[in-house]
Amino acid sequence: MQVEVTSTPLAELDADLHVTTLAADAGLPEDLASVPGAGDARGGYRKLALLHPGTPERVLALGIGDPGELDAEKLRVLGAVIAKEARRLEASSIAWAIGELGPVAPADGAAAIAEGLIMGAYRFDRYLTPDDDDPPGPGLESLALAVAGDAEGLAPPVRAARVRAEAANRVRELQNLPANVVTPSFLADRAREIAVESEAVTAEVLGRAEIVDRGLGGLAAVAAGSEQEPKLICLRYGGRGSGEVLGLVGKAVTFDSGGISIKPSKGMHEMKMDMSGGAAVLETVAAIAELGLELDVVAVIPSTENMPSGTATRPGDIITQLNGKTVEVNNTDAEGRLILADALTWCVREMGADRVVDIATLTGAVLYALGSTYAALVSNDDALAATVADCSERTGELAWRLPLHPEYKDLTTGTVADLANTGKKQEAGAIYAASFLEEFVDDRPWAHLDIAGTAWDTGREYVGKGPTGFGARLLITLAQDSAA
Ligand code: BES
Ligand code: MN
Ligand code: ZN
Repeated sequence: MQVEVTSTPLAELDADLHVTTLAADAGLPEDLASVPGAGDARGGYRKLALLHPGTPERVLALGIGDPGELDAEKLRVLGAVIAKEARRLEASSIAWAIGELGPVAPADGAAAIAEGLIMGAYRFDRYLTPDDDDPPGPGLESLALAVAGDAEGLAPPVRAARVRAEAANRVRELQNLPANVVTPSFLADRAREIAVESEAVTAEVLGRAEIVDRGLGGLAAVAAGSEQEPKLICLRYGGRGSGEVLGLVGKAVTFDSGGISIKPSKGMHEMKMDMSGGAAVLETVAAIAELGLELDVVAVIPSTENMPSGTATRPGDIITQLNGKTVEVNNTDAEGRLILADALTWCVREMGADRVVDIATLTGAVLYALGSTYAALVSNDDALAATVADCSERTGELAWRLPLHPEYKDLTTGTVADLANTGKKQEAGAIYAASFLEEFVDDRPWAHLDIAGTAWDTGREYVGKGPTGFGARLLITLAQDSAA
């Protein structure tokens, strides 16, 4: 979508749909106060009224409530409300006059509106045969944000917001696409495409033979039952050439059947989204390259299916991870930690990450702990945890920190191997999984995001039902901050 910031007054902008905001205790702007429809305008938060001034033909009056109560998240929702209305009215271009935003800084407000509008406009309809009697509208193509103040100064933050939101939408597309399309090879191709699009990005992909040869025993074990070739997808972004290297790791199980410890069939189809973390990391790298951020990033995405078959890993098998630690695979459905363990080691040892953030749809337990509102954040480093929490807060991709403690290590120890991939007790599942991962980061500052609850079906207004793209905006923001 094309997004611009302008100081041209709303009425002079060419668009299919014009939007003006209205505060709870304020009237319409003078030139709209007595046009047809003006009597219906209300300032309550999210209230809509269509006005017909003549030129422009129609103006949507959007209530924003008490400006003093506004925040970025509320503005994202308003962006989505307008995206939905634009769809109903079949508008492909929007001009939006941003007025008083109370405590929200103009740059943050304009960015939030653009994010909400772009994410709210996303649809997954490529598999739907169009209805001849009711053909789909044109889709949203452009947004012009009209501001009273410094339009030029707002352009860079709004551009960054567009890049973040479009990255999130690409993640949502990858999440939506079924597992017979999004295979590990498909994700590897996307990584290569990102590298072709930017000179600063290089991609390297390991296939099954190299994964086995190089000793990535966790990834090899999870992939053992699958006909689809597993891939270790590695991306390197060189935006500065010196200084600290940020490592990103994302779980990309393109379908998680549970393996031999097979899942119940109810809801199993949703496990096409078990690649959400990996998709977020992929598109984060694409966005970092698009923005040309001045930092160095390495990304590792372990990708495989988790399938049952005659060659699949059995419950009780013992495997050796890349760092030499042995693991009893007591439950083949706890596969995420096995592939992430190798990816974290690879990220630190082979790619040279100084600090690492991983993101994964790792445990059902996180849903019991935090629902679909917060992701779990677990970290061995207070400074990194605080930085991630701050990015989370600002993007509305919420994450709540859960603790690590030596006592949780009791849950991760094996009986005949160093570690076990499932605990003896069904307790603290999200922390246990994180505590397992901690064994593979060589004591580097590390933060883990468990997004099993937040990747899908959160009901957050600007993502609706289905995939949320969770993590892309947070990680891009983290990269922006690290570059600054
Ligand atoms: N991919 C699942 C976690 C998941 C659950 C993601 C719900 C999205 C929604 C993961 O691989 C898994 O199966 N975890 C098991 C671990 C258990 C066997 C220790 C779980 O949480 O049930
Ligand atoms: Mn699983
Ligand atoms: Zn899984």
